[in-house]
Amino acid sequence: MQNQSAQRATNDTNNTAEDNPLNRLSDLLDADMDKVNALIIQNMRSDVPLIPKLAQYLISAGGKRIRPLLTLASTALFDGPMDKSYHLAAAVEFIHTATLLHDDVVDESFERRGKKTANLVFGNQASVLVGDFLFSKSFQMMVESGSLDILRILSSASAVIAQGEVLQLAATNDIETDMPTYLHIIESKTAALFAASCEVGAVLSDQDENTVTAMRTYGTKLGTAFQIIDDALDYAADQEKLGKEIGDDFKEGKMTAPVIFALENASEEERIFWKRTLGYKKQEDTDFDHAMEIITSHNALDKTIALAKKYADDATKALSALPNSQVKTLLCDLTGYTITRSF
Ligand code: IPE
Ligand code: IPE
Ligand code: MG
Ligand code: MG
Repeated sequence: MQNQSAQRATNDTNNTAEDNPLNRLSDLLDADMDKVNALIIQNMRSDVPLIPKLAQYLISAGGKRIRPLLTLASTALFDGPMDKSYHLAAAVEFIHTATLLHDDVVDESFERRGKKTANLVFGNQASVLVGDFLFSKSFQMMVESGSLDILRILSSASAVIAQGEVLQLAATNDIETDMPTYLHIIESKTAALFAASCEVGAVLSDQDENTVTAMRTYGTKLGTAFQIIDDALDYAADQEKLGKEIGDDFKEGKMTAPVIFALENASEEERIFWKRTLGYKKQEDTDFDHAMEIITSHNALDKTIALAKKYADDATKALSALPNSQVKTLLCDLTGYTITRSF
């Protein structure tokens, strides 16, 4: 299985790894990201050996680091104090890592970043507790900024993420879940952290209220598009590239965009199928393939991608009033990458 830290993001369509916007952003902020990675390693330390062992297991597997890059980019965009953004970028990645540890326990997932999940290797209890440690550490790092505004933004995001995960749990196996509910869930569990990652860069750089709002909107729309595509990839990705198991959402009975679109004009027979497989989680070996057939026959993946594209376009629009710069161009290009990404 592939280790993604050694793998550069490639778009399936026409971009090479070199001109992929995420890699370009990462190249531009390479020196800054090194500082963030150093802080990440430093803050994983603990006298309790299981903590760095488990955290290192997940963190060293890579990950795209898109959220800390957004914090760095949002600071660089306004010529803000980069040195102060490092702790915040590391805090953001710690919040993300903590949610992944908890999420894989809740979702009973077995593969993450091309490796066995931490819950599979170390157990559920260790994953939950080390997740709590990383959450707490993220707060220690946020405090370093000395800004109550920043503390408010990131701590609110943490609460909203947790709420989103609980809301998702409540909607799981409920095939009546509608599009507004789904969007509310993903805006909470995923877009809230993207929004906060972008907003703190603008706040750190003393930007006016309109600019801070523009960055927040950009992050919200980008994060929503990102999760919609994640939900499409859960049905249709190349598993080797994705580094996560395909079909996890189906297996758990999660109500995501591909299924919600497929249910819009479902026949009675199809509704019965979704009720059995997602509602009651009574699944047979051939059910995932059949789910894919139904999804395809309703163009539900195309509709999912179109929905994500709408959010990605809104993200770009949010930046329109900001002065042009290399970083702004990269942030605009990143919206397109979010749609065409394969992991
Ligand atoms: C995974 O996030 C969780 C979602 C919000 C879909 P990423 O796709 O950013 O995960 P890594 O950090 O790159 O592994
Ligand atoms: C994202 O949802 C979870 C968080 C924001 C914590 P998913 O459950 O779809 O994420 P993956 O697919 O496991 O990465
Ligand atoms: Mg999951
Ligand atoms: Mg997913």
